Amino acid sequence: MNYILFNHDIVMRDQFVDIEDRGYQFGDGIYEVIGVYNRMPMLVDEHLQRLERSAKEIALKLPYSTESLKEKLLELIEKNDLVEGILYFQVSRGSAPRWHEFPEADTPAVTVAYTRSEERMTGMEDDGGKAITTEDNRWLRCDIKSLNLLPNVLAKQKAHEQDAIEAIFHRDGAITEASASNVFIVKAGELYTHPANHLILNGITRQQILKISEKLNMTVHEKPYDQKDLIFADEVFITATKLDVIPIIQIDDSQIGTGLPGQVTKKIVDHFRALITDLKKEAHPFK
Ligand code: PDD
Repeated sequence: MNYILFNHDIVMRDQFVDIEDRGYQFGDGIYEVIGVYNRMPMLVDEHLQRLERSAKEIALKLPYSTESLKEKLLELIEKNDLVEGILYFQVSRGSAPRWHEFPEADTPAVTVAYTRSEERMTGMEDDGGKAITTEDNRWLRCDIKSLNLLPNVLAKQKAHEQDAIEAIFHRDGAITEASASNVFIVKAGELYTHPANHLILNGITRQQILKISEKLNMTVHEKPYDQKDLIFADEVFITATKLDVIPIIQIDDSQIGTGLPGQVTKKIVDHFRALITDLKKEAHPFK
């Protein structure tokens, strides 16, 4: 993992971000995380489309086309010989003297990408994990994948301190999402998840789960549900890049359903695993 993408070039990982990079000082930028399985990035076009959307929403001019960014990212995976892991990339509004307002229009955005080798969480996928609940005190544009993650970091740390994998957010009584994943509940065989509005990040994994449930003829309600619905759900699972689909079998002090991953969640896990297997069969871009 010795190489990174730094602006337009793949270089050794000894580059430094400028102290006045706006991503570093203000969190003024956007990012994406893509899962890599057997050297293949998963749903790369969907991630790049979301990056484009995030950029538009914060009026950040991307430094190059998503097509050429994609080529560079694939090249980086190859160069780092990444078999299984993640590809992280971010674009900040560039480096300029520290004033809150946008810098001069000719200030180029700064792009950085790197890879990290990571095992799949298949054990947790089979056995399930614990989550906690916490108040959603984030801003009201959670649909933008912004670098500002302090509330998410604090929530995740709180979960970590209680041996939980995730912190599930509630806002005004409604369950929104978790600190770094989306949340689904199952009640009487039907799925419920918060609608993709300004209160959640519309996860790429979430969107795949919606497609899988359609294929499985499952009813999905994209509507808010409350903390009681969460605790008394038959099943709960979370979804995110590389975390994939994790059943949640305990929330705070309450057992969920039978205390074991449920049948609906298992079906979805199996279908998601099949997507990964299919991806592995795809022609590799460098072969
Ligand atoms: N997080 N909601 C939030 C707040 C997230 O940070 C993420 C992903 C998701 C799931 O999105 P996706 O399915 O597109 O990964 C939902 C990434 C993985 C992270 O910050 O590391």
